[in-house]
Amino acid sequence: MSGRLGGKVAIVTGAGSRGPGLGNGKAAAILFAREGARVLCVDQVKDRAEETAGLIHAEGGEALAHAADVTRAGECAGMVRAAVERWGGLDILHNNVGIESRKDLLETTEEDWDRVIGVDLKSMFLATQAAVPAMVRRGGGAVVCVSSIAGLRGYGRTAYATAKAGVIGFVRSVAVQYGPKGIRVNAIAPGPVWTPMVEDLGPAARERRRRASPLGTEGTGWDVAWGAVYLVSDEARWVTGQTLIIDAGLTITTPEGSLGATAP
Ligand SMILES: NC(=O)c1ccc[n+]([C@@H]2O[C@H](COP(=O)([O-])OP(=O)(O)OC[C@H]3O[C@@H](n4cnc5c(N)ncnc54)[C@H](O)[C@@H]3O)[C@@H](O)[C@H]2O)c1
Repeated sequence: MSGRLGGKVAIVTGAGSRGPGLGNGKAAAILFAREGARVLCVDQVKDRAEETAGLIHAEGGEALAHAADVTRAGECAGMVRAAVERWGGLDILHNNVGIESRKDLLETTEEDWDRVIGVDLKSMFLATQAAVPAMVRRGGGAVVCVSSIAGLRGYGRTAYATAKAGVIGFVRSVAVQYGPKGIRVNAIAPGPVWTPMVEDLGPAARERRRRASPLGTEGTGWDVAWGAVYLVSDEARWVTGQTLIIDAGLTITTPEGSLGATAP
C-alpha cells in the first residue's frame, strides 16, 4: 500500500461486524491500517473489536481493540483518551456505527425511534464532540460519518432514513464551525452494499439489490472503505461538508420506465 495515512492516529467506531463477513467499519479499519494509520478499533462488543484488531496485527499493522458504547458520552470520552494515551494524539474519527430499522411510520414505536436515532445520529454527535478537542490540539483532523442513501431518497424506514438524513446536516454544521481549525467533516452515503447488517434479507433480496443500480454489480464494505480512505487522507485537504455517495449509480436512476421518451 502507499502509506496515504502514514503517521496518523484513527478511531473507527463499529469496527467489528455483527456476523461473519465484512462490515463497513471492519473494512475501513483494515484499509486505514494498510495505509499506515494506527487504529483504535471501537465496538460495543469487545470480541468484535478484537477480531478486527487481530486481522490488522496479522497483516503487520498497528491497532488496539477498545470496548465502548458510543451512545454514551463518557464512553466516547474514554475511547478518545485511549487513543491519545496510546499514540499521543488523534487525527481521524470514522463514525461508522449504525443499526437498521425497516419499520414504516405507523409501525415505528417511540422506543424504536429513540433507539435508532440514538445509535445512528446521537452517537455521531457524542463521538465527534469528544474527538474535536484532541484534533484542535493537533492542529487539524478529519471526521467521516456514515450516512446512507436512505437519508437522501424516499425509501420508507422512517427512523433510519431520518437519522441518516440528520447525519448529513450534522456534518455540514460541524464542517462550517471547525473548518477554521483545520478539521474537515464529511459524510459517506452508501447504497445497498452487502454486509452482515443486511445478511438477514436473504438471497432473493441480495440479487434484487445487486441488479438495482446502473453498474449492476454488488457493493461490499471495501467499496465504502475506499471512499473513507480518500476523505480522511490529505488528498481530500480541500473537501469538507460533503456527502460522498457510493452506490453504483443507484441514486441517479429514475423508477424504471416512469417517464420513458417523455423524459425532459
Ligand atoms: N449494509 C448496507 O447496505 C448499508 C447501507 C448504507 C449504510 N450502511 C451503514 O454502514 C454502517 C455500518 O455498517 P457495518 O456493515 O459496519 O455494520 P455491522 O452491523 O456489521 O457492524 C456495526 C458494528 O457496530 C457495533 N455497534 C452497534 N452499536 C454500537 C454502539 N452503540 N457502540 C459501539 N458499537 C456499536 C456492532 O457491535 C457491530 O459490530 C452503518 O452506519 C449503516 O447504517 C450500511
